[in-house]
Amino acid sequence: MSPAGRMNAPALVVRGAAALLAALLAFASCGAIAAESDANIVQSHVDRLDAESLQRGARYFVNYCLTCHSAEYMRYNRLTDLGLTDAQITGNLMFASDKIGETMTVAMTPANGKAWFGNAPPDLSVEARIRGSDWLYSYLLSFYRDEKSPTGWNNLVFPNVAMPNVLWQLSGENKLVKTEYDDHEKAQAAAIAVKGLASIEPLPNDHYAVLQVMPGEAGTMSRSDYEQFVRDLVNYMDYMAEPARNTRIRLGMIVLLFLGVLFVFAYSLKREYWKDLH
Ligand code: HEC
Repeated sequence: MSPAGRMNAPALVVRGAAALLAALLAFASCGAIAAESDANIVQSHVDRLDAESLQRGARYFVNYCLTCHSAEYMRYNRLTDLGLTDAQITGNLMFASDKIGETMTVAMTPANGKAWFGNAPPDLSVEARIRGSDWLYSYLLSFYRDEKSPTGWNNLVFPNVAMPNVLWQLSGENKLVKTEYDDHEKAQAAAIAVKGLASIEPLPNDHYAVLQVMPGEAGTMSRSDYEQFVRDLVNYMDYMAEPARNTRIRLGMIVLLFLGVLFVFAYSLKREYWKDLH
């Protein structure tokens, strides 16, 4: 290296540190923005290693969602990964097709879907990777009655969604509650204080409303049972979006265990060698 080059080294370090700091600041501010827009969703707390929850979720998905949505990348026989037998799958889960090697298709064509609902129900194979499980969980908890919408339902997380509230018999009929505040700061503080699903809507003359979904007429399930139902369903959708991830997690645990055991042997070998040198 030339002397000039060596003299530049501290300058380079300073520049590098400045760039790193700038990157960190940019990253931190990204986080802040994301946190702000996340204010109105709640955490799903799904556990993708809970096989029973995944089995229940698969059943709910086939029963309640597959009538309109497909999951074209998911084969029925892959469900054996969840501990289900071929007989259980063909007997309890296959309504839309007859061969266990088939994918989860749907009889409705996208054109019909568009004609019936205004928007075609999208394929849900990888929906959990697009939206994330917290979003899905919040979405399925935020349907409310809205007489003005064509389906009779609306959604806090996905306003004016074309999907009807297909789970209303279980969840009951929620209603929207609006509380008005005279500036944005107060509305924001109130929305955060809700510590749950809430969103802010601008009103005329700089006023803001905090929107919340509140329980109305009860459904067949209690609130906590319904939340568990949705958690299982979202857990399954998260699994379906990346089934191989469970294998990776299990393999990772085995590798770590192996390294742990190897460490014990390597350490005792090291002590054995060094004993003679001390
Ligand atoms: C009666 C038909 C119907 C059923 C049953 C149904 N959906 Fe939908 N769903 C729709 C339609 C139509 C849309 C498109 C909404 C739009 O884009 O406005 C949709 C959209 C969605 C979306 C948003 C997709 C996106 O990212 O834009 C999700 C998530 C979803 N459905 C999940 C489900 C789940 C989970 C179930 C089962 C509990 C289900 N749906 C059952 C009709 C249905």
